[in-house]
Amino acid sequence: MCGIVGYIGTKRAVPILLDGLKKLEYRGYDSAGISTLENNSLSCIKEKGRVDQLKNLVDNENLNGTIGIAHTRWATHGKPNKINSHPHFDNSKRFSVVHNGIIENYTDIKKFLMDNGYQFLSETDTEVIPNLINYYYEINHDFLKAVSLACNDLIGSYAIEVICSNFSNKMIIAKKDSPLVIGIADDGYYIASDIPAILSYTKNFYILEDNEIAELTLNEIKFYKNNLELVHKELETITWDASAIEKNGYDDFMLKEIYEQVTSIRETIGCKLNKSLIELDNIQFTKDFLSNINKIFIVACGTAMHAGLAVKSIFEKLCYIPVEVDMASEFRYRNPLVDNKTLAIFISQSGETADTIQALKLAKSKGATTLAISNVIGSSITREADIYIYTHAGPEIAVASTKAYTAQVVLLNIIALYCAQILETISLDEIELLKKEILSLPTKIELALKDISMVQNIAKKIYNAKDIFFLGRGIDYPVAMEGSLKLKEISYIHSEAYAGGELKHGPIALIEKDFPVIGILTDEKLLEKSISNIQEVISRGAKTIIVTNQELKKDFDYVIKIPNIHPYFSPILSVIPLQLLAYYISKEKGLDVDKPRNLAKSVTVE
Ligand code: G6P
Repeated sequence: MCGIVGYIGTKRAVPILLDGLKKLEYRGYDSAGISTLENNSLSCIKEKGRVDQLKNLVDNENLNGTIGIAHTRWATHGKPNKINSHPHFDNSKRFSVVHNGIIENYTDIKKFLMDNGYQFLSETDTEVIPNLINYYYEINHDFLKAVSLACNDLIGSYAIEVICSNFSNKMIIAKKDSPLVIGIADDGYYIASDIPAILSYTKNFYILEDNEIAELTLNEIKFYKNNLELVHKELETITWDASAIEKNGYDDFMLKEIYEQVTSIRETIGCKLNKSLIELDNIQFTKDFLSNINKIFIVACGTAMHAGLAVKSIFEKLCYIPVEVDMASEFRYRNPLVDNKTLAIFISQSGETADTIQALKLAKSKGATTLAISNVIGSSITREADIYIYTHAGPEIAVASTKAYTAQVVLLNIIALYCAQILETISLDEIELLKKEILSLPTKIELALKDISMVQNIAKKIYNAKDIFFLGRGIDYPVAMEGSLKLKEISYIHSEAYAGGELKHGPIALIEKDFPVIGILTDEKLLEKSISNIQEVISRGAKTIIVTNQELKKDFDYVIKIPNIHPYFSPILSVIPLQLLAYYISKEKGLDVDKPRNLAKSVTVE
């Protein structure tokens, strides 16, 4: 999805902007652009395609300004081409603007501006912003006031950077429902939509809140509300290591992130299980509060929703509270039965997914207690929720989520156990046993990652398949769904996940000779049932690949063994071979694993 970088300081802006855009490539984009300000003159270079192409164009120009804004665009309004890419200008070429988000009332604003003599070059919603700012500037000749008046007219979401040829030492930025951070360094201010873009320059950040504006000059930063009332902000320090966003010798970020699961799970567990009673940073539920809760909703999108599905039954077993897992995009439009007896948990790696944020706002407005789980410090979702807690997976760069998913599953399990401890629905002995199992996860993940030759071999055999099925029962079903999603995302192979028992109600009609079927078999109690389902596809010629921690007597084409663990936590281990399989199939097909087509890391539009 779109990315923003900006710089105002004493250094040449162009290399900083290009470096930031490169770091934002993982978000997914189709065009890129840059605008700098030098001696009251604005320049702009933009093009459809990759940041490297933009760099070639920029290298031919002599852009020496120390103030600049930059953008990677992921087309929403209008096709990906040069005209639609950012930065955009007003008619008089006085203001240059980059924008993340969607202006929902842009057709009304466009009509208003056209009635006032303005003309538009692009098909974008963004182009109304510089023109609207210019409209107000013509009236009051005040840069800050013009931006604030324009922002007041905008409906929708925006994070914007604005520079103006009349002010050679100024940048104004503003945001609503789309993130923007300002990093502070000795040489100036670094602005970005995502911290990784500028993490190599500073670890100290101001995080802009919704409906706030920042006015930056070379040596000063002032924060305002949209009505221009001054705001005081505290500087926040991020602990992420800049090297965490480099590949560190791995071919791709995705592979690096798969291997990082040993550490990311260890960090997510942190000190939570060290004492006899589980303690969570930020969450302090009482028995009265939890006893009053009669329903838990877990709401998220994509992989994060699969994390919710992987813990639904455990939450129910441990806490005796019904749990419903919902896609944020469905939840927000279906008038869900939520009230003040609902605990609504929202999971989002980025913390910026538009549907998840809106679903959270809805649940909150209906009286639910909202708990956000995010991987990004200060992300929008954590600011909206009543309570938040972080997974500590570190920055996830590959579009296909791996380490964030397992961190979410682990954290949700710990939260379920914590609630059961308070509700006293399970014995202390049981809690001790489950804690030990969770603490054994990093070592077992290491084991699961030790010999991956079988997975590589299977990838070589099946990468040409047109369709692949994933089967699982009980706790293995959500893992089948996640394995199937990973495969689709990065290999473009059509795949479906089915609960084993559903197979005979339709999908089995598709099975023919050599059709790859991947079965996940980790629950001893369901083993015989699952094996029968696999038997059904074997009889119809399927090629079977089994991921299991059980001793199997039957013959399958391939069996990938994973370490044994309490059934509650098997999704954290059984997903690992599926992540690797998707990865190696994608490599066999020669695809761009980290940046799959049409996908974005952070989906900030509905
Ligand atoms: C996008 C990503 C997925 C991710 C989903 C939810 O579709 O490509 O990998 O699972 O968004 O993202 P979130 O940041 O809310 O977890």
